[in-house]
Amino acid sequence: MAGGVVVDAQYLKEVEKARRDLRALIAYRNCAPIMLRLAWHDAGTYNAETKTGGANGSIRNEHELGHGANSGLKIAVNFCEEVKAKYSKITYADLYQLAGVVAVEVTGGPTIEFVPGRKDSLESPEEGRLPDAKKGASHLKDIFYRMGLSDKDIVALSGAHTLGRAHPERSGFEGPWTNEPLKFDNSYFTELLKGESEGLLKLPTDKALLDDPEFRLYVELYAKDEDAFFKDYAASHKKLSELGFTPS
Ligand code: HEM
Repeated sequence: MAGGVVVDAQYLKEVEKARRDLRALIAYRNCAPIMLRLAWHDAGTYNAETKTGGANGSIRNEHELGHGANSGLKIAVNFCEEVKAKYSKITYADLYQLAGVVAVEVTGGPTIEFVPGRKDSLESPEEGRLPDAKKGASHLKDIFYRMGLSDKDIVALSGAHTLGRAHPERSGFEGPWTNEPLKFDNSYFTELLKGESEGLLKLPTDKALLDDPEFRLYVELYAKDEDAFFKDYAASHKKLSELGFTPS
């Protein structure tokens, strides 16, 4: 997906207005977690070799929304439609990634640089490109290396589970990862190191971050140094948000 849409002064103005509307919408609907998950599931289908998938808005297609991994995300797509209706110039691809960046910001997380210009695609990738929560470290590596991301990106981005919860009717898992699931902080990592806690969730893929020595180094770093987590998270999230997109 070389190149992008033409980002002129008017486009940038709409992006700033959409950013403000997203802040209000996310606060009003308390929907930061699912907006972040939408941004991740649109971008996370990227294949760096074939240059297919990625942050291209294709998740809005009924067909892709119907993939098992995307269960529940129609809610977030519909929230974004409210903003798209007002700022029609903005591509879905940009809007979903902007929503992810704003979700992190308004819940107390780091500021993530947002560069607009993503093109929309109606071509959905085949099912199965997103990680399977029941698997282990080598699966995580296979999936994220395919996107062109690193071990550090895997651990930093997993820290997004500081927000939100699993819903039995969507994924078969249940519960939040932290005691304050609407606050973006490093508690995902401190809870992970503490081990099982009553009422808190740990997916097999979360626990896998403790098994692999490379992953574990970052878990330990982020648990003790929130600034290091925020800095690395912001960089990794920017990379994720630009999969398949080369800013001009
Ligand atoms: C929720 C799996 C990485 C953000 C979930 C859920 C599962 C899951 C099973 C529960 C869905 C539900 O029942 O509603 C995984 C796996 C990952 C991964 C296996 C591999 C490392 C990520 C990344 C991000 C992210 C990279 C963002 C950068 C979220 C958020 C939620 C969530 C914010 C909460 C959604 C809500 O509260 O509605 N994830 N995830 N996840 N995931 Fe992940």
